Amino acid sequence: MADLSVNLGGISSPNPFWVASAPPSNTGYQCHRAFEAGWGGVVWKTLGEAIVNVSSRYSSLDLNGNRMVGFNNIELITDRSPEVNFREIKECKERWPNHAIVVSLMTDTRESWHEYVKRSMDAGADGVELNFGCPHGMCERGMGSAVGQNPDVIETIVGWVMEVTQIPVIVKLTPNITNITYPARSARRSGANAISLINTINSITQVDLDRLCPEPYVAGKSTSGGYCGPAVKPIALNMVQQCAADPEVKLPISGIGGIQNWKDAAEFIALGATNVQVCTAIMHYGFRIVEDMIEGLNDYLDRSGMASVTELIGRAVPTIDRWENLDLNYKRIAKIDYDTCIGCNLCYIACEDGAHQAIALVDPDAEGIGEGPGRLPGKAVPKIKEDECVGCNLCSLVCPVDGCIDMIDIDTGKEPMSWTQYQERVASGDMEPIPPHQ
Ligand SMILES: Cc1cc2nc3c(=O)[nH]c(=O)nc-3n(C[C@H](O)[C@H](O)[C@H](O)COP(=O)(O)O)c2cc1C
Ligand code: SF4
Ligand code: SF4
Repeated sequence: MADLSVNLGGISSPNPFWVASAPPSNTGYQCHRAFEAGWGGVVWKTLGEAIVNVSSRYSSLDLNGNRMVGFNNIELITDRSPEVNFREIKECKERWPNHAIVVSLMTDTRESWHEYVKRSMDAGADGVELNFGCPHGMCERGMGSAVGQNPDVIETIVGWVMEVTQIPVIVKLTPNITNITYPARSARRSGANAISLINTINSITQVDLDRLCPEPYVAGKSTSGGYCGPAVKPIALNMVQQCAADPEVKLPISGIGGIQNWKDAAEFIALGATNVQVCTAIMHYGFRIVEDMIEGLNDYLDRSGMASVTELIGRAVPTIDRWENLDLNYKRIAKIDYDTCIGCNLCYIACEDGAHQAIALVDPDAEGIGEGPGRLPGKAVPKIKEDECVGCNLCSLVCPVDGCIDMIDIDTGKEPMSWTQYQERVASGDMEPIPPHQ
């Protein structure tokens, strides 16, 4: 059994799976249920001055029968009183001393930040997470993403927090910004112990075409909401990697965004996250998903010969490079496995109309292609034209049968050569420019 425990900027937890600050972390009751299910930490639903929520609050993007591929909300921070929240946080911490409880905070004045941080410490919290990320409602009042979009304001507020805190400080970033490393660098400069990302992305998920008004519907109006769930994972992974690779950030990262299973979590960790936080998947399937996450991550680490989660952190970060450093002489092409091909011809259409016309429909008997589920009397089958295939991956992505189209490496017999080297060689007369495709 691999060691799943992690330490995020001074906050330790028995495993890297934390409940993100959101509806699943709204009450002591839910916090107990989360820890009983196996979660290693909870970031409490954001506390701050009293707010009033609207009804309704959520909307989603469904795709081909899959519900909540993307999820959108216009909810504000907690609508429960600080007294009740801090009492429950204290009770939870007493009952779960080895699990991480982090209090998410969002407020405005220096005095108010001081007060909430002190109350979090008094409640026994392991750390605070500063919510500079919510992109709806609170940002109109100068908080949430309004702070996260302004590196100077981040520095000011983190500075206020650092004046009083004796527990680690995590800065939660908004993805609604051009370059995520700028606010991350601000967090670093102002002395924060870690960053967490991403919060939700500005979005409108659907328009009701009868009412001609988007969802979530509030008495004839709606507002831009925060997007999360599986659809945002690629954006979150990219931002986590950017922060992990930036020499001026150098802070532990809590990865958030679309995580549903151990594999998603492992990808975040490989790209630089120390731990992960989950919201939408819990809202969809409940706390018990963590059982499979723990088991799956443990099996993966064992299989990969890694004794701990820590060994995985950032392992894939150096493989991301600038485009100009990729090898122009590397070549892969598509290969169809006729034993599993069902003859749907989606690959043919995709390559013919959307890529490089590198798949032909051929007579299987004439080509010596054996039996398979896609073979029907008189029916042509797809065949890769190896010389035409540019290895774009499209056919393997559209193919509905897992593993049926493999992308295989081709030995070109050429030395690796990046764009930068190519430019230099052409300029120095070492080689002729590569002729364009016809
Ligand atoms: C309904 C809802 C309410 C949320 N409330 C908060 C909040 O109070 N504070 C906060 O920092 N993030 C909040 N979030 C953002 C989540 O913590 C998380 O950053 C985001 O949902 C991405 O993770 P996911 O894809 O696992 O949902 C909320 C998200 C949702 C869906
Ligand atoms: S990899 Fe791209 S170019 Fe090659 S066959 Fe598939 S779709 Fe066509
Ligand atoms: S998409 Fe896949 S299953 Fe369909 S014809 Fe092409 S290789 Fe066969």
